[in-house]
Amino acid sequence: MPQSYRVAILGATGAVGTELIELLDQRQFPLSELRLLASPRSAGSHLSFRGEDLLVQAVGDRSFEGIDIVLASAGASTTKAWASQAIAAGAVVIDNSSAFRMDPQVPLVVPEVNPEAAAQHQGLIANPNCTTILMAVALWPLHQVKPLCRVVAATYQSASGAGARAMEEVKQQAQAILNGETPPTEFFPYPLAFNLFPHNSPLSDDGYCQEELKMVNETRKIFGVPELRITATCVRVPVLRAHSEALNLEFAEPFPVDQARSLLAKAPGVKLVEDWSANYFPMPIDASGQDDVLVGRIRQDLSHPHGLELWICGDQIRKGAALNAVQIAELLVERGWVRSPASPSELLKSSSR
Ligand code: A2P
Repeated sequence: MPQSYRVAILGATGAVGTELIELLDQRQFPLSELRLLASPRSAGSHLSFRGEDLLVQAVGDRSFEGIDIVLASAGASTTKAWASQAIAAGAVVIDNSSAFRMDPQVPLVVPEVNPEAAAQHQGLIANPNCTTILMAVALWPLHQVKPLCRVVAATYQSASGAGARAMEEVKQQAQAILNGETPPTEFFPYPLAFNLFPHNSPLSDDGYCQEELKMVNETRKIFGVPELRITATCVRVPVLRAHSEALNLEFAEPFPVDQARSLLAKAPGVKLVEDWSANYFPMPIDASGQDDVLVGRIRQDLSHPHGLELWICGDQIRKGAALNAVQIAELLVERGWVRSPASPSELLKSSSR
């Protein structure tokens, strides 16, 4: 009989958490127990899994006893507060937050790109930033054939990247504006409905926001190319779910468009969406709920003989977060990597509540 695993979801009530529950069911993840954890605000509520109503518990000192795999999506401070306890209890934590992504001891994994990195885990694996995952899936098949010299990304990011409350606020804003009322801005700093603004993550002294720096630094780590030249401008747009990205790529030599197209057409996790006669290309509305990153409008960059332009859309909650995390869990299970060969890292031992 195949082995089954006891899984906990930390942040089970959030936008990513609820998607994790659905994916574990849909993908028939081999589990013997699913434990749903959130903040005390949600304790006592129930969420449905495989036809059963499961109790949501407030995360606490005994939450990780007997757990093999923790899928965490409750923010960086919650991961920092609880990861060491989960690891000490014998679990491997697959964390969706930015808390440990750039820690050299923590693998940062996109299964289509660097699955082998997961083998090195010491109890914690980081799930990359959503925008970075989508870009990595689309660029890796090209980079494998002709290494990238430079990437210039512009993103069009949906409200879902900021969680369930953000999505709700955009709907309320749209309703308020249509009613001639002042839109509420409790979550986002400015109205997002019928508007857009540069990404609302904190700004650094060099003028980049955190989201942009995540794309730069995390892509370098995932690709194993610390010197990759990459720059990004991240923008929030009034789309509920699924992010879009315009990617300008520069290679050391010309990259024929037909070759790029045929590589992407057969790349894992990518779906080519191009109907030039109908001007039909990837759209967030089509990417929503899909596993694949939609790629299209592949064309020669007129301004550079070694340049290519791509347009991509991907479901931020799915491949950009929950699906990638579940794929990492599947990878660990398939390759027998659930248990870490090493002891928990010093860094994790030092993280505490
Ligand atoms: P809760 O619903 O009880 O607040 P989202 O990213 O969609 O906003 O979801 C965030 C998730 O993280 C929710 O499940 C939320 O639970 C959970 N969460 C937030 N803060 C904490 C915390 N301090 N401890 C445990 N879970 C938390």
